[in-house]
Amino acid sequence: MKHITDFIIENRVQLGEQYFSLTLRHPGQLPPIAAGQFVEVEVRHCREVLLRRPISIHDVDAERNILTLLIQIVGKGTRQLSELKVGEELNLVYPLGHGFGVEGKRPLLVGGGAGIAPLFHLAKCYQAKGVVPTILLGGRTKELIPVREAFGQYGKVCYATEDGSLGEKGLVTQHTAFVGDYDQICTCGPTPMMKAVGRYALEKGIPCEVSLENMMACGIGACLCCVCDTDEGHKCVCKEGPVFDVRRLTKWLEATK
Ligand SMILES: Cc1cc2nc3c(=O)[nH]c(=O)nc-3n(C[C@H](O)[C@H](O)[C@H](O)COP(=O)(O)OP(=O)(O)OC[C@H]3O[C@@H](n4cnc5c(N)ncnc54)[C@H](O)[C@@H]3O)c2cc1C
Ligand code: FES
Repeated sequence: MKHITDFIIENRVQLGEQYFSLTLRHPGQLPPIAAGQFVEVEVRHCREVLLRRPISIHDVDAERNILTLLIQIVGKGTRQLSELKVGEELNLVYPLGHGFGVEGKRPLLVGGGAGIAPLFHLAKCYQAKGVVPTILLGGRTKELIPVREAFGQYGKVCYATEDGSLGEKGLVTQHTAFVGDYDQICTCGPTPMMKAVGRYALEKGIPCEVSLENMMACGIGACLCCVCDTDEGHKCVCKEGPVFDVRRLTKWLEATK
């Protein structure tokens, strides 16, 4: 069931130049939220941004009825959101989409850029099941891997940076931890990264889920602007995803874009 709620901004943290986090308090009780589900955020007071913006649920504190979002400033909507202040309201439609399965016993979570956001809640869900995931986070430089220390509570964290400023130098798929005895891979981040991870998983026969970040408008399967050409036909990423089993995405993996 979807909800529309005004949350209260309890905290706002700037994380380097590009990222910030918003801690949001629900006025009542949060419904159950799966790792990989997302919210559609209303951007108020900005005439140029009419549509809500899709943002993954980064963290959930069910006892305190708190959600956290991790947001990269890329355009008008996210810049407007970055100017919100503690105590203001933020209207969300949530929880949207289908999340990750949380099924592996030896999972590898691979994130890049803003795609690391949903992996935090996912790592916590694994920990709640007594499973310690390997978490491989990548970015061009260490400043572009926000909240990296926090992941350490929930798994074994490894880093890959293109400039070598943190962890191993290179792409996540070149990291020594990328190849291991994993029984599940979950990934979210830039499309070329997810395709490389997905192709590897398919080739090795490792179950793999990717979280697609297609452009969205309605977020509920009504406008068809987010469709992905899956092996089972065109699917709305907002409703049937954003998390898909990579075995359903061989057309997407083969497409050059
Ligand atoms: C399911 C889902 C979950 C997401 N989770 C997060 C998250 O947790 N944190 C986060 O920072 N971002 C997340 N995104 C991406 C986020 O929605 C976009 O960055 C945001 O909508 C851009 O809005 P804007 O008004 O700032 O930028 P715009 O002015 O609309 O666009 C600025 C630039 O960003 C590009 N852009 C816009 N939307 C997307 C998109 N969906 N994917 C890639 N490029 C885009 C545009 O092409 C343009 O180049 C998610 C997207 C989806 C679909
Ligand atoms: S965003 Fe409208 S159908 Fe997916």
